[in-house]
Amino acid sequence: MNPLQDGILILDFGSQYTQLIARRIREQNVYSEIRPYAISLSEIQKLKPKGIIFSGGPASVLDPKAHFIDPEIYNLGMPILGICYGMQLMTHQLHGKVEKALDREYGNAEVTLVEDSLLWRGLSKENPLKAWMSHGDRILKLPLGFKIIARSKNSPAAAMCHETKPLYAVQFHPEVTHTPQGTEILKNFIFQICHATPSWTMQSFVEHMIQSVRNRVQENKVVMGVSGGVDSTVAAMLLQKAIGDQLVPIFINNGLLRLNEEKKVINLFKNQKHMNLRYVDASSQFLNALKGITDPEQKRKIIGHEFIKVFEAEAQKIQGAKFLGQGTLYPDVIESVSFSGGPSQTIKSHHNVGGLPKEMNLKLVEPLRELFKDEVRKLGQELGIPSEFIDRQPFPGPGLAVRILGEVTQAGLALLRLADDIVVSEIKKANYYKQVWQSFAVLLPVKSVGVMGDERTYENVCAIRCVKSSDGMTADWVDLPHELLAKISNRIINEVRGMNRVVYDISSKPPATIEWE
Ligand code: XMP
Repeated sequence: MNPLQDGILILDFGSQYTQLIARRIREQNVYSEIRPYAISLSEIQKLKPKGIIFSGGPASVLDPKAHFIDPEIYNLGMPILGICYGMQLMTHQLHGKVEKALDREYGNAEVTLVEDSLLWRGLSKENPLKAWMSHGDRILKLPLGFKIIARSKNSPAAAMCHETKPLYAVQFHPEVTHTPQGTEILKNFIFQICHATPSWTMQSFVEHMIQSVRNRVQENKVVMGVSGGVDSTVAAMLLQKAIGDQLVPIFINNGLLRLNEEKKVINLFKNQKHMNLRYVDASSQFLNALKGITDPEQKRKIIGHEFIKVFEAEAQKIQGAKFLGQGTLYPDVIESVSFSGGPSQTIKSHHNVGGLPKEMNLKLVEPLRELFKDEVRKLGQELGIPSEFIDRQPFPGPGLAVRILGEVTQAGLALLRLADDIVVSEIKKANYYKQVWQSFAVLLPVKSVGVMGDERTYENVCAIRCVKSSDGMTADWVDLPHELLAKISNRIINEVRGMNRVVYDISSKPPATIEWE
C-alpha cells in the first residue's frame, strides 16, 4: 500500500521549515512525505497524493537558476498549496508577475482576509491574522483566473486562489507557531480542499510496516546493531514484531558505556522482550586500541573502526543473514535527498551504530525511515518499551571516550561513570532530564589541589554539561538552579574518590560544541 494515496506530498524548494510542514500535517493523522522539487510528473502521478504543497525556499523566481517545476503539474487536477516561494513560483509559471520588493518583508505581519475561501473556513474576517512572513519578492500581478483572498501592508496579494481550479497560495508561513492560526489553514487545505483521510495513526503505521518488512525479508535473517538508544531500540522491537527471531540484534559493549548500561540493555532485550540478542563484550579490544591515544579525531576513528571489525565478525557467524536493520529516521533521509548545502568542514567525525560497512553486502531494512523522532517515541510507547529507554537523552556512539579528555583509561572510566550517574540521577530527581537535550559529566585531564578533612588532596576535575537544544546543531547551556548544582557538586566530591573539584560549563554551541571532544 502506498500511504500517500491518502496523504499529502510536499515538494521541497529548500525552506528551513519544510520538515515542519510535514509534521503539522502528520499531527492531523494525515500522512505526508517530502520529495525534492525536481521529482518527475510521472512519479507524482504514480504516488497519487490527495494534494501537493510547495514549500518555501531561499531562491527568487526572477533568478534564471531558480528551482522550477514542470508547469504541467497545474493541470493534473490535484489540489496545490504554494507557500511563500511556492506562491511566487505558481504566479510566475502561470504568467502572473513577480517583482523584487523594495523592502524585504520579514517577521510578524497582520494579514486581512478579504474574500471567503475554503482555506479560511472557521477563521474570522473581522480580525486580521497574525502571520509570519519572510520574503524578498512580491506579487505584482496575479495569474489569469486567480483572485486575491488576503492582503497585508507590504503584500497586496498575501494569499490567492484560482476561481475554479483547486490552486491556492499564501505568502506567509502557516506551518510556524508565529502564525497562530496556521494549523487551521493547513487543516482546511488537507481536509476541506484535498479531502484527505485522517488514517495515519501509529497503529496503522505498525500494521503497514510489519507487512512491508515481511514482504521484503521473507525467510531471511536480519542482523542489527543495537545500543540501547531510542532509535535502534524501537527499530529492533518493531522488526521483532514483524519477523520474530529472524531478527538477530547484536549489542557490542565497547567498554565506553555508562554505569550498569550493559546490564540494563541486556535485561530489556533478553529478559523483558525475549529477543534473540547477541551480546559481545569487546571492551578490552576497544580499550587496547585506544591505549596512548589522546587526539579526539583519532579516538573517534579507532572506535568506529573497531566497531565495524567486531560487528562484522559477529554478523558472519549468523547463517542466512541477508539484511541489515537500521534505525534511520526521516530527517536523515530527507537531508540526503534534498538540499544538502554543499561541502562543509568536518568538525567531528560522527560514529553511531548505524554507520556500518557497505562491503558486508547486506540489504538495508529501515523500518523508521518514514518517522520523525517524536513519532518514534510514540511508537516506542505503543510497543511497550519502558520510558527509561524511550525518553533517553542522546548518547554519542563513541560513548564516554569523548567525555574523557586525553587518554581513555580504566581508572578514568570508573571515575566518570560514578560522576555521570550522580549528574543524571540528580537531574532526573529535579525533573530536568526530559526538559533538557543532554546532561552529563566530563572528566578533565587536570588535577587540582584540595583539602578533605585535614588532608591535602591532588585530584581530578569534573565538568558538568547541561544544554538545551532542538536538534543538537545549536545549543544553549542551561541555567540550572544553584541548589541543584551545589547538590551535584557535593555528591561528586564526597562520593567519587579521585575527584575534588567540580566546574559548570557555561558555553553555548557555537562556538563550543556539546561534547568536549
Ligand atoms: P557536538 O559535540 O558535535 O554534538 O556538538 C552534537 C550532538 O551529537 C552527539 N554526538 C554524537 N552522536 N555519534 C553519535 O551518534 C557521534 O560520534 C557523536 N558525537 C557527538 C552529541 O552527543 C550531541 O547530542
